[in-house]
Amino acid sequence: MDIRELIPIAKKASEKAYAPYSGFKVGAALLTKSGKIYQGCNVENASYSLTNCAERTAIFSAVADGEREFSALVVFTNTDILFAPCGACRQVLSEFGNEIEILIVSKDKEKVTTIKELLPLGFSLNQNKK
Ligand code: THU
Repeated sequence: MDIRELIPIAKKASEKAYAPYSGFKVGAALLTKSGKIYQGCNVENASYSLTNCAERTAIFSAVADGEREFSALVVFTNTDILFAPCGACRQVLSEFGNEIEILIVSKDKEKVTTIKELLPLGFSLNQNKK
């Protein structure tokens, strides 16, 4: 599956974002090595720090469904500029390996990146542990 096929799924996921505080809606689509797709959106909270990002929503949903091996992630924001995953999401992504292909997408821009690029010298005890 081409990673770009995940873009409409990430876009649709962003429409489900619960972002009454920031108004910043993010959608994620995560492809597992087994071929399943999990979506995620950001879920905010009145106690701001409890907010969960779209990327982590998708990852946690997949892991809760028994999936731990991922091949691609698309993150979409309906913005003019590109936004890359936050530091917390980079750390959580790196827990599940360095191989995942990441595509960040805005209204009319796209950029392919990797965990190694996003999180150089990252902290990991079990990079390849399944
Ligand atoms: N957000 C994400 O969903 N993913 C990121 O990687 C960065 C930020 C969300 C969290 C919050 O709901 C809003 O964007 C503004 O920070």
